[in-house]
Amino acid sequence: MKVMTVVGARPQFVKAAVVCRALLSRPGIEHTLIHTGQHYDASMSGVFFQELGIPEPQLNLAVGSAPHGVQTAEMMRGLEPVMEAAAPDWLLLYGDTNSTLAAALVASKLNIRQAHVESGLRSFRRSMAEEVNRIVADHLADLLFYPSNVALQNLAHEGLQDRAVFSGDVMYDAVLMFRTIAEAKGGPLAEKWKPGQFALATVHRAENTDDEARLTGILEALEEISETLCPVLLPLHPRTRARVEQLGWKPRTLTIVEPLSYLEMLLLQGRARMIVTDSGGVQKEAYFMQVPCITLREETEWIETLEHGCNQLTGTGRSEILAAARRMESTGPWGTPFGNGQAAQKIVQTLCERS
Ligand code: UD1
Repeated sequence: MKVMTVVGARPQFVKAAVVCRALLSRPGIEHTLIHTGQHYDASMSGVFFQELGIPEPQLNLAVGSAPHGVQTAEMMRGLEPVMEAAAPDWLLLYGDTNSTLAAALVASKLNIRQAHVESGLRSFRRSMAEEVNRIVADHLADLLFYPSNVALQNLAHEGLQDRAVFSGDVMYDAVLMFRTIAEAKGGPLAEKWKPGQFALATVHRAENTDDEARLTGILEALEEISETLCPVLLPLHPRTRARVEQLGWKPRTLTIVEPLSYLEMLLLQGRARMIVTDSGGVQKEAYFMQVPCITLREETEWIETLEHGCNQLTGTGRSEILAAARRMESTGPWGTPFGNGQAAQKIVQTLCERS
């Protein structure tokens, strides 16, 4: 069986890592990995391949940053001849980025069967680029690997349940596989940031970084958490760093660092007293590690995490974020709605059965 994987952005490297391992562990599978180059900095891409042991991509299209239409079109232009020549039995796609969208469109024109991992997620907000990407990817895919019952309900609502297969969440597999390695590795950040004594924050969504009022609300709230509750560590995505610099905003007590590697991030997430984020993946990782989370958005795709206050949606208002941070201590119990950590094996098994 010939399988092609297309990835391009940071969260996809984590998801693909566990599935690549499962693919490599089976005889008779010829696997090709293509990197679109959507993320290209060492801290956003290279370090993930090294730490997670992802095989070197056979091809990197080096598309880089551009407006969405241009970025997606460049990916499609690069992917079409590659997919046509390789003619895989299955194309494997992950999540909701422009790389997912580009590959899904190309494969559908070439009649290549495609499987979408992390299907069925919905924010119900069409203005979000990722929402459009995931809807298109779900509707074009032949096999929909969904992580939870909520995702299945969303697929059923759009008439897609017949193509849906429960896998559980590959990010849960990754946390189980890499958390102990992260803890054993330790490192200078672990020396400095002690368990239960700090908050870990990430901000990168376009709707937060590209809106001055929203970004300022978040930064001011993080400063106040840092001044009144516990120190805050903010590893900054390059797009957010650029916006913060444009604003001329200077941190007072916040500690701002470069994006962390996956293992550093896992280690610090597990140690944090709370996590403050607008990332989908980080919300879930917080939940897996039973760390209370504040989500800097008005809605979430991962509504299971909201139960019992484990994850609180605050939007980006300073006072709402602060109020949630002060409520954080009494959360839980934590459920297990995202499978049993064997999602990658289930995905590969299903592809083999249907090849
Ligand atoms: C993308 C995904 C988002 C995912 C996120 C993870 C889409 C529409 N969005 O958003 O779903 O959660 O990745 O990080 O696909 N940049 C660099 N170096 C890099 C990568 C990006 O400097 O290696 C900067 C560039 O200024 C670029 C900006 O970040 O213009 C945005 O990058 P892009 O990949 O377009 O979107 P993300 O915000 O990373």
